[in-house]
Amino acid sequence: MNDYSSLVIRPLDSNHDRLGFHCGVASLDDYIYKQARQDVKRRISRVFVATTLEQPNCILGYYTLSTLSIELSQLPPALARKLPRHPVPTALLGRLAVNQADQSHGVGKILLVDAIKRTLAVSNEIAIYAMVVDAIDEKAQHFYEQFGFTIFSSGNRRLFLPLKTI
Ligand SMILES: CC(C)(COP(=O)(O)OP(=O)(O)OC[C@H]1O[C@@H](n2cnc3c(N)ncnc32)[C@H](O)[C@@H]1OP(=O)(O)O)[C@@H](O)C(=O)NCCC(=O)NCCS
Repeated sequence: MNDYSSLVIRPLDSNHDRLGFHCGVASLDDYIYKQARQDVKRRISRVFVATTLEQPNCILGYYTLSTLSIELSQLPPALARKLPRHPVPTALLGRLAVNQADQSHGVGKILLVDAIKRTLAVSNEIAIYAMVVDAIDEKAQHFYEQFGFTIFSSGNRRLFLPLKTI
């Protein structure tokens, strides 16, 4: 059993065993197998992985971060009214996944908190209004809602969390 108290979260690199990762959602597995390294190389996304000190190449979970400009009309009217009439700068947590055998041990929560901390740190240098997440299904939506994310008014599975509320 992995020691979840010794999690290390750092950028994905070529030593990580990407093919050993299986979260149960094919598109999220395929992403880490085939696309993640390319996205990092091309500066399309940053990919962070959780490992343990004991097994530094074994991926327990990962998330991706990039920037995203949101049209004001996508935000709930009550919030949009308080903002200037321009697209809103946000950070997109595009994907978040935990290896199946390591789910329900708090790894997802730790990854999400890490992503929020990194976003807050960057937002001192580059303005970021909110963190945005794309939930893959209803269960994932509930996972994010318990951390205060709320659904966009447009009715898809995109949720956001204004940074000032954190
Ligand atoms: C969703 C996922 C990232 C959660 O990671 P995890 O490590 O299993 O979750 P944690 O153990 O950190 O759980 C944190 C909290 O979320 C809850 N939770 C976990 N999975 C959940 C789910 N699928 N739906 C709703 N709540 C969930 C837990 O009950 C826990 O609450 P608690 O601390 O009050 O007990 C993980 O199950 C996963 O990778 N699933 C497959 C891919 C996926 O759905 N990704 C979602 C983003 S698109």
